[in-house]
Formats: sequence, structure tokens, C-alpha cells
Amino acid sequence: MKEKILKILLENKGEFVSGEKLAKESGITRGGVWKAVKALRDEGYEIEAQTRKGYKLSGSSDVISKEEIEKHLKTKFLGKDIITLKSVDSTNNYLKNLENKRDGLLVVADEQTKGRGRLNRGFYSPKGSGIYMSILLIPKFDPAFVSQITALASVAVLRAVKKYTDGDITIKWVNDLYINGKKFCGILSEANFTMEDFWINYLIVGIGINVKTKDFPKDLKDVAGSLNLNISRCELIAQILNEFETLYEDIGKKTYLDDYKKYQNILGKEIKVIKGNQEFFARAVGIDDEARLIIEHGGMREALSSGEVTIRRV
Ligand code: BTN
Repeated sequence: MKEKILKILLENKGEFVSGEKLAKESGITRGGVWKAVKALRDEGYEIEAQTRKGYKLSGSSDVISKEEIEKHLKTKFLGKDIITLKSVDSTNNYLKNLENKRDGLLVVADEQTKGRGRLNRGFYSPKGSGIYMSILLIPKFDPAFVSQITALASVAVLRAVKKYTDGDITIKWVNDLYINGKKFCGILSEANFTMEDFWINYLIVGIGINVKTKDFPKDLKDVAGSLNLNISRCELIAQILNEFETLYEDIGKKTYLDDYKKYQNILGKEIKVIKGNQEFFARAVGIDDEARLIIEHGGMREALSSGEVTIRRV
């Protein structure tokens, strides 16, 4: 019942809708409308009520909901099935543990209590201010493409974000996105294979974005940034899925690759490479067609795959 009311209010976000219209279009009584509005307010929606004018969902209301994501979605299969959670340890873990795994399923949480990053690091995921989402994929393609999923996902985020900001958006190989020199997004892709033939059972692409996060912990203060866009988190989530699906359907053609190369922020720079317990300085010189980073050190060229490598700008 409240879902129907929410849908109508979302369609008219920022404008008043009369109680009569809400009752008629949702097929419930005026009293029922009031109850639904109350329930939605309890969930955090800012809804103004005025006699004679009706109800208005505030333009800046920013609650994660299936209904609002769906409103902006233009995909064929991605996000056709959405689970939203108030709080979870990690959306990647949630999908891993889910019994009924279906292709294109999206899980979004308002908060993560144990958000995970690459190489066993954490991902700061405070309530109400970021996007913490994971996409489940059951691909039919050659396992060789798996290594490119993270690169593809970073271009999907880049394209979606660039629609709403003039800020300088760049990618730091392999999976970090920056706005004006500060990291606002990290991506953690995880794959599950069958041991015998290395067939992909499923992939989980986890995307974490600081949308309006303000108070970063001490260790992140100097390196982390936020997008601060004028749109809701739900709209951005939908745009990322829209971009992702287009690139994913064409994964064989590698249509993400040009932008992946173009927006890199470490090419031509001195970097520090950390590979297991090995550490050395190198120059980042390019990205090859497998989305690997080409580096030069000690007069030699080497192509790095994402696996266990950390890159630091120096
Ligand atoms: C990184 O910066 O190293 C990757 C961070 C990935 C964070 C996202 S948030 C949604 C999903 N769930 C997690 O636990 N991690 C990813």
C-alpha cells in the first residue's frame, strides 16, 4: 500500500499531489493514504502535508528504495530484481550467502558494518551518506573476461557520475575512482569458479561510493572525497546500472576500454608497486587491451594484472 503511494509521490517529487488523487490512483481510502504517508515518514522520507494542497515528497529526500531506483532504470536485466537493506555487514557477503542466486540481482544497503575493500582492507560505509551496492552476475562468457569486469565497472561509474558533475573524474588503476584528486569510489569484484573446469558460477561486483560522506576517519581524511551531487543516491545507482548493462552486453567488443585508458590518472607518473612482500618503484606507461597496467622499471617493461598488486602514487 505504501509502495503505491511512494511511487506516485516519486513521480511528482517536489510537487504537491492531492490526497484525493493519491487515494484514487492507489485505490485506498484517504485515511489509508495518511497512514501510508506516516509509515513512509518513519522510514525517513520527508513528506510535507498541507490542507487543500495534499502531500509533497521533498526534492532532496534521499532514502534508498527499490521504487526510486526503478523509476530511473532503463535496463533489460540488470536490477530487475532489487533487495534494499537498512544495514548489513557487507553487500558482497550478503550475495555470497544468498541461496537463490539470480542473474542481475542488485543489493543496496544504507549502511555496512563490515564493508570490505581489496586486499582485506575495510571500506568506510557510514549510514545514509553513501552507495554500497553489489551486483550478482551469472555470465555465459569465457572466464578470460572475468579480469575485465572491474575495469568495465569503473567506466560505468565514471560515465554515470560525469552526467551530474563538472568535477575532474579519473580512474586510478585498477578500481579506484577520484573526484578532483580524492578517492570517492572503490570496486571489489569477486568470482566463484568450479575447480574442475574453471567455469564461472557467479560474479559479484561490489561498488562503494562516498556520495555525501563528510566526517571521514583520520586515516582517510586526506585521501577520501565525496561527490556531493544534486541528485538522489537512487538516481545515481540506476544510472550506474544503465551504463553497466550497455558495457557488459558488449564485453566481447571491449567498448569500455577507450574510456578506461583515457581517464587514468597515473599514466606517465612514478609509482610504487607493492606485490606480495616485494616493493619497487616504476613508471606507469600505459594500459593494454586486457586492462593490465604496463610499467617500466630497471629498463624492463611488465604488464600487471589486478590480482595482488597495490599501486601508490609517489
Ligand atoms: C576498495 O576500495 O578496495 C574496494 C571497496 C569496495 C566497497 C564495496 S561497498 C559494496 C560492496 N560490499 C563490500 O563489502 N565491498 C563492496
